[in-house]
Amino acid sequence: MSVRSASSVLGNLDPERYNPVAIYIDPQGRWILPSRSPEAATDAEAREYVRDQARSFRHRTEVVLPARPDEDATLLLFTRETEGESAESDPGHNASTVRQLHLDVVFPVLHGPYGEDGTIQGLFEMANVPYVGAGVLGSAVGMDKAIMKVLFRAHGLPVAPFTVVSARDWARDRSGVAAQIAARFGFPVFVKPANLGSSVGISKAKDASELATAIDLAAQYDRKIVVEAAVPNVREIEVSVLGNDLPEASLPGEVVPSSDCEFYDYDAKYKKDSDLLIPASLTPEQTAEARRLAVAAFVAIDGSGMGRVDFLFDHVADAWYVSEINTIPGFTTISMYPKLWAATGLGYAALLDRLIELAIERHTAKQVLRTSTA
Ligand SMILES: Nc1ncnc2c1ncn2[C@@H]1O[C@H](COP(=O)(O)OP(=O)(O)O)[C@@H](O)[C@H]1O
Ligand SMILES: [Mg+2]
Repeated sequence: MSVRSASSVLGNLDPERYNPVAIYIDPQGRWILPSRSPEAATDAEAREYVRDQARSFRHRTEVVLPARPDEDATLLLFTRETEGESAESDPGHNASTVRQLHLDVVFPVLHGPYGEDGTIQGLFEMANVPYVGAGVLGSAVGMDKAIMKVLFRAHGLPVAPFTVVSARDWARDRSGVAAQIAARFGFPVFVKPANLGSSVGISKAKDASELATAIDLAAQYDRKIVVEAAVPNVREIEVSVLGNDLPEASLPGEVVPSSDCEFYDYDAKYKKDSDLLIPASLTPEQTAEARRLAVAAFVAIDGSGMGRVDFLFDHVADAWYVSEINTIPGFTTISMYPKLWAATGLGYAALLDRLIELAIERHTAKQVLRTSTA
């Protein structure tokens, strides 16, 4: 998904204004200049791209972003002249040429842990380089469903009733924890690892035995597990938010998971044909409420740049529940985030321009802040 999103971003940056440098981070976390720019419209093409880069890794130029806040953001590019044994036996000297490359702004197009959770954002802060999207805190909160929901609630936003179970408590007292959940929420409930996304490790439990299986599964992914009452009569509405201190909300869209999936699970997201309805069919009042809540959710997690706020909407009770915010939403040209902006009057290339401006604005504003009393 990251490769597909990055293909779209790179393919749509105005060549008159930008001189983009693609950096590929491989599954082992190594940064390299890729052998070719990604052009992957499908998952199969993205997988092929990843295989390609793995095959040619030894001939690539490795990229390092040093944590040097005092200098303009500079990438170091290490190109090996010799391959194979000498590099293996003397790893300190395998970088035979070093070049520097100046960066004006970084656009992280990385979904999930390390990309969207504040860790790489921390590196950009250490290097003092402007970067697109949420900062360290907003990114970290956006990745942790347990903390995110606490913050939403503290800001008066409606969230579905939930509790957080630690893997340790679950291991120590399965029947006690299960009984408490059943008494408090009844069934069905959704069980999710606090971190992650893409519906990985998430299940819907309809009774006590499914609950135990669901918590066991979620516990394989995280030490914190969110258990949440299922919202009835649910429609899944999403709103794109853009901005720093004065964020704006797009028109809402709706996700309709393909009919053979029970909820918007991993298969529905990536394998089956789920429909995006843009704009969502809502009354003007409902649309206004979704946009208001989306901006409030973005502010609640200290978002900046961009964020896609996902709602669970009980259409019978006309009740909104803020479900989550994604700080690096899917960014292909057919993804919800940019499509909602297009429907609101901001096309894909203009959206990229705006995100880059916002990154630079935030960075510039931060430079004048005092960091001590001296
Ligand atoms: N409380 C809930 N009520 C009804 N459906 C839910 C609830 N929580 C999650 N779901 C379903 O599960 C999907 C994935 O859950 P979500 O919290 O969005 O996780 P992820 O971060 O993996 O997208 C949602 O899109 C929705 O279809
Ligand atoms: Mg989701």
